[in-house]
Amino acid sequence: MTDKKLIKTLHGQTNKAPPIWFMRQAGRYLPEYRATRQKAGGFLDLCYNSDLATEVTLQPLRRFELDAAILFADILLVPNALGMKVWFEEGEGPRLNGISNGFDLGELKPITDIHETLSPIYQTVKNLSSELPNDIALIGFAGAPWTVATYMIAGKGSKDFSEAKSFMYQEPQKFQKLINIITDATIEYLSEQINAGAEVIKIFDSWAGVLSEQCMKKYVYNPIEQIVTRLKQKHLEIPIIVFPRGVGPSYKVFANNKLFSGLAIDTSIAPSWAKKELQSKIAIQGNLDPELLVGEGLLLQKEVTDLLRQLNDGPYIFNLGHGITPRASPDNVQRIIEIIRG
Ligand code: CP3
Repeated sequence: MTDKKLIKTLHGQTNKAPPIWFMRQAGRYLPEYRATRQKAGGFLDLCYNSDLATEVTLQPLRRFELDAAILFADILLVPNALGMKVWFEEGEGPRLNGISNGFDLGELKPITDIHETLSPIYQTVKNLSSELPNDIALIGFAGAPWTVATYMIAGKGSKDFSEAKSFMYQEPQKFQKLINIITDATIEYLSEQINAGAEVIKIFDSWAGVLSEQCMKKYVYNPIEQIVTRLKQKHLEIPIIVFPRGVGPSYKVFANNKLFSGLAIDTSIAPSWAKKELQSKIAIQGNLDPELLVGEGLLLQKEVTDLLRQLNDGPYIFNLGHGITPRASPDNVQRIIEIIRG
């Protein structure tokens, strides 16, 4: 059995101090990240440069006493590997040659071809796997099919998801086909990450919360369950954390699925509710509001202590409810870790 606290917690262990990591722990709030990012050129150049991606993955671990490293990559590498053009507009976020501006599903590459583009990512995982200290877990990840589809359809981030939703409602068969393609590609991608040394997998469904319950079951829950089922056929022991952000009471449906090892809760979930309704079934990860890390962090002591009081009697992983913002202060990350370990 492993010595890694994160992995033991995902198998149900309760701890004196929980394992700690932060979503987007490698990112623009760190000056050393900004420097490496500059050296790499574009954001995608950084993702596809194994040496630099290894470097930025390790940066937060040099500063902070964390229990996990998360592979530095992005959820939009899968559409890119399927043949879509992906780029980042400075200050505006991702752009793709999306389906709603003329890209046809028939132009996507066969699933078997994705590894050609994604092989540098597997190399990053290999590098990390050999460089990480014995007590730090290596997390691999991918976006869930619904969230990835929203970007593939709109060609950018979205406010009301009208492009993806109207595609879903007006061309349901084609939409399901797209979901199936992303599902198959994601299984291949994650399976190779595991072969390369990823010890935990996290599946991000950042926009799960904008769908009706019925559509959520069909396009969020079912594809995630499929990915996990098929990954576990090949990799029996791999612990998987799911993050169906924003699904509210439907978090219970995820907690009840024995295939999942961890459930990442977003900032809208009351920790007391998660303790009562979810934690007897699954390890809980979350859910400090990332905005608390901006500025002086006056509320950190109280909020972090409250979270520990509510959730640390069961299997619990400390994290935020969403990614660190570029405006967060690294000092506040350090303070949180001191509060938890003290
Ligand atoms: O440290 C880590 O958490 C690992 C790396 C990671 C990134 N993106 C790096 C990144 C992970 C796990 C992601 C996931 C991701 N990417 C999600 C799901 C999680 C979430 O935040 O909801 C989504 C929706 C994306 C798509 C994406 N990538 C967007 C919308 C953006 C632009 C938004 C922004 O913050 O500017 C990105 C870019 C991105 N991915 C950055 C980083 C560090 C910032 C890019 C930069 O350096 O300019």
